[in-house]
Amino acid sequence: MYNDSIATEVIFEHNWEDLIDNIPTKVFVIDKIFFNLHRDIIIPILNNDPYYLFDAKESDKNITNLIDILSFFQKEEINRAFHIVCIGGGITTDIGSFAASIYMRGCKLVLLPTTFLGMIDASIGGKTAINFQGIKNNVGSFYCADQVIINSKFLESLPRLELINGWAECVKVALIDGNNFLTKLSANKQKLDDFIISEAIKIKNDICSQDPFDNEKRQLLNLGHSVGHIIEVISNFSISHGKSVAIGLKVIAGISYADGFVSQSRYNKILKLLSLYELDFKQQFEVDYSIIYDILKQDKKNRKLMSLVLFSEKSVFVQKMTLEEAVALIEKHIYN
Ligand SMILES: NC(=O)c1ccc[n+]([C@@H]2O[C@H](COP(=O)([O-])OP(=O)(O)OC[C@H]3O[C@@H](n4cnc5c(N)ncnc54)[C@H](O)[C@@H]3O)[C@@H](O)[C@H]2O)c1
Repeated sequence: MYNDSIATEVIFEHNWEDLIDNIPTKVFVIDKIFFNLHRDIIIPILNNDPYYLFDAKESDKNITNLIDILSFFQKEEINRAFHIVCIGGGITTDIGSFAASIYMRGCKLVLLPTTFLGMIDASIGGKTAINFQGIKNNVGSFYCADQVIINSKFLESLPRLELINGWAECVKVALIDGNNFLTKLSANKQKLDDFIISEAIKIKNDICSQDPFDNEKRQLLNLGHSVGHIIEVISNFSISHGKSVAIGLKVIAGISYADGFVSQSRYNKILKLLSLYELDFKQQFEVDYSIIYDILKQDKKNRKLMSLVLFSEKSVFVQKMTLEEAVALIEKHIYN
């Protein structure tokens, strides 16, 4: 079974236990921290079904653990009649979904994302991956879940840093969309609820369904990420993904304004939105041209020409440029 469309059904359900209960044969891949924090609600749904606890660290999203998960499926005699149910953040759903996509050439897949970022980003759009030989998400597949079940109550135990990661992606999609959701997010600081999650999912889903295999339109979702990646690398990953993306959004806003793609009013609104969601971080690490160049060059997506997503007055657009041009722009604005 090769799932070649963005055909995932997204269900908002606080009574998620009933949905899981109704799945006849299943195996679970569960984030260990989430399991330990929520034993009272997780253990009852397991019944006697097999479950694999995964230690969700970025360094563990690797081939050794993928083999371990596949071996677990084999040992438990999982077959294609089973649903693979992944419960956890993006790390767990990425590796669990990848395992589901290749075990017996593909099994049914249900995701219960438990982080804000997992709900609005990692579980949406059908990308699965592990990190391979030092390159992030370099091995994976396009494989949409049959169902994504969203229970925002899971987020009550999420640490603040993880919330920031989610808000950075949420603000990013609102800025890409540029429509009602942006107006709503900009009006006042919204509390994180099902409305926010469902709007952010809709925008990502809409972009992904126009470009399921990431050939063109999906590039827009890289807004803030090229610069964000530079910040992550130069800080030796001591600056989180969300903070790095937020800094990236600010730097891209600076470039877009300086190059005349956005008015002062749009530029100010972008900065105000970042500030409203406490995402106005400052880049503090020293960087020079050669470091930025090397990091951009290592990125598998950048060949001689690279695509930098810039702001336009209403949305965003992809600007093709040489690596040298991109580095010069980023170096000039990185301390904005
Ligand atoms: N497939 C995609 O399209 C896609 C998109 C974006 C990101 N990703 C991937 O997602 C990963 C990041 O995902 P993430 O931000 O969800 O991080 P994560 O999976 O590392 O989870 C963050 C931390 O929170 C813990 N946790 C999970 N749920 C919790 C809860 N409800 N309460 C308390 N703690 C909880 C986890 O154990 C972990 O320590 C990266 O590997 C990234 O590459 C994938």
